[in-house]
Amino acid sequence: MMKKKQKKEDKNSTKINMQKFHTESFENNSFQSSLKSYIDYIMPSGIDTLQPSYINIDGAYIAVLLCVDFPYETTKKGFLDELINYGEGVKVSLYHKPEDKLKMIKEITSALGFTKHKMQTGGDNQVDSGTQENAAESSVYMKSKLSKGDEFFYINLFVRIIAETPEGLEEKVRKVESKLTNIFYQRADFRQLEAFRSSLPLNLMDERMKKQTNKNILASGLCSFYPFTSSSLSDPNGMYIGDNEYDKNAIILDIFDTEKYPNANMIICGKSGIGKTFLTQMIAGRFRMQKIPTMLICPLKGHEYKPLCDNVGGNFIKYAPGEKNRINVMEIRPTKQVGVEKASYLGDKLQRLKLLLSLLIPDITTRELRLLDAPLKRTYEKKGITMENASLYEEIGSGNLINLRPRLKEMPILEELQAEVYEVPELKRIAEEIEPLITGSLSFFNGQTNVDLENLYTVSDISEVPKELIAFTMYAVLDVYWERIKMDRTQKKAIILDELWKLIGSAGNAQVAESVLELFKIIRGYGGAAIGTTQDIQDFMMLEEGKYGKGIINASSIKIILGLEELDAATITDVLKLTEAERTKVEKFKRGQGLLYAAQNHLVANFRAAKTEERLINTDREKLLKYAEEGRS
Ligand SMILES: Nc1ncnc2c1ncn2[C@@H]1O[C@H](COP(=O)(O)OP(=O)(O)OP(=O)(O)O)[C@@H](O)[C@H]1O
Ligand SMILES: [Mg+2]
Repeated sequence: MMKKKQKKEDKNSTKINMQKFHTESFENNSFQSSLKSYIDYIMPSGIDTLQPSYINIDGAYIAVLLCVDFPYETTKKGFLDELINYGEGVKVSLYHKPEDKLKMIKEITSALGFTKHKMQTGGDNQVDSGTQENAAESSVYMKSKLSKGDEFFYINLFVRIIAETPEGLEEKVRKVESKLTNIFYQRADFRQLEAFRSSLPLNLMDERMKKQTNKNILASGLCSFYPFTSSSLSDPNGMYIGDNEYDKNAIILDIFDTEKYPNANMIICGKSGIGKTFLTQMIAGRFRMQKIPTMLICPLKGHEYKPLCDNVGGNFIKYAPGEKNRINVMEIRPTKQVGVEKASYLGDKLQRLKLLLSLLIPDITTRELRLLDAPLKRTYEKKGITMENASLYEEIGSGNLINLRPRLKEMPILEELQAEVYEVPELKRIAEEIEPLITGSLSFFNGQTNVDLENLYTVSDISEVPKELIAFTMYAVLDVYWERIKMDRTQKKAIILDELWKLIGSAGNAQVAESVLELFKIIRGYGGAAIGTTQDIQDFMMLEEGKYGKGIINASSIKIILGLEELDAATITDVLKLTEAERTKVEKFKRGQGLLYAAQNHLVANFRAAKTEERLINTDREKLLKYAEEGRS
């Protein structure tokens, strides 16, 4: 019997040896060894481990931080999000292993008994007794939580940081460290290679690393490590604006989501021809589709906005010499806001008119402004309008028809004001300064309003307004839009300003810049969104040392950075604290590509329009020519 078994084993070992022989001889086969596997292609040429604080793999400088300790519960929900969404070059690896609950309760109980015994018998120094108290407290806490249904886990957390230079690495490490509040961590110096391997998604944790980073945690605490909100963006009621370059997922953005974004403002920067107007119109058109009142102001190339505006049945108002459109700057439009009424609509209007006149006549004196009060009031009095709000309306039952609803009285126009101003000899100069707005070809503010301001899509093209009148026009248009914005706080609405740098840059006017900044700051309170684009970042930051540019950027929850030239990229990197990798990307972006900052999400997006939209919003000469030819054939 024994012999038989022995024989069988011998036979087996021969079999094994035979197999070994076959494999070895196969591996030694010179043809076979010349065949390459994918590993040979992707393998780095070498790993430099000479430095204690990082390793270098084919020019990538890598350092790993080991997270050693965390508080049990104080860690706030999703506290790793900021690191996970940090962008390129920062990777977070988390291992977690569930343990048998009953076994853990037993172990904790026996450890607790031991600690208590040590504490009672004394003999330890002060420090040690403090540690033991802490250990005992933690054990009691864990035991009570586990007996109430919690679960026990061991976790290990590694943060891998990658940069293109040692200096870049140190800078990135510092930034990451500033986000690791509440976590006790160590840089894996002298053990970077083991730490690097442990941090790869291979489930190959080095034993020493495991020992150092092992931390027990309850399921309730582990929750705060999840969900890993990925870099993709999908707001529940949002609009599709493009795809995530990284994972190709659709980006669905709802700038009006007040839970997610503190305000609905957006700033879009990018060099000339990179896609600002394209993206702005795409968003504006989609707002219109959602029936969100959308008001645009274009200080440059307003004609680019006409095809889409016409297509959606919008109202294209061009402010240019000879145009017949009129907006009566003297008109008072009482807001229909329920429960809130101004003390005196006329009083408010007089203030705004005086501001408008000071934009027209920058050297107007305070005395002249004071003297203007009387002719201003007289102009309205002649129409029966006084400081009493009720005087704005016709009496019920007046006129040929019986009025069932109060009807506003006819409003005075600018030339009537000018006539009154001429009556005051000291104000002759002011009356003359108003002249170009009365008889000249720039009389678009002199006359009763003849454009439909209620339209859901309104474009104000101010690109042909003479330079000296741009501040006045801009303010007057904003004033009209403001009234609309304030009407109903519960309704979403958007105001879009293309080429903002023209209004708030070095050539801009401080009062206009102030009013634009104010718009960005307070529109949120009226349920509105302000969206601005700018091409020249340097210039955008010029007026009053960047007060307005920075103010607008800071007041915008959503920031889109399209391709920029080197200098502008450097400025925006500084203002938005972009990472080096992001900055490099910004310099390389192609048309329609950009960095999207939306609350915690930072991602690279490819903005996409539908074919029909593209035809309506394209500004590219060749494409326009192609569409025209297609239309003819
Ligand atoms: N997301 C996109 N998808 C497809 N084409 C695009 C996209 N963005 C830009 N383009 C193309 O680039 C052209 C120029 O874009 P756009 O007019 O928006 O540039 P811009 O940044 O507003 O330039 P400027 O500062 O000179 O006004 C568009 O007309 C279009 O042909
Ligand atoms: Mg443009």
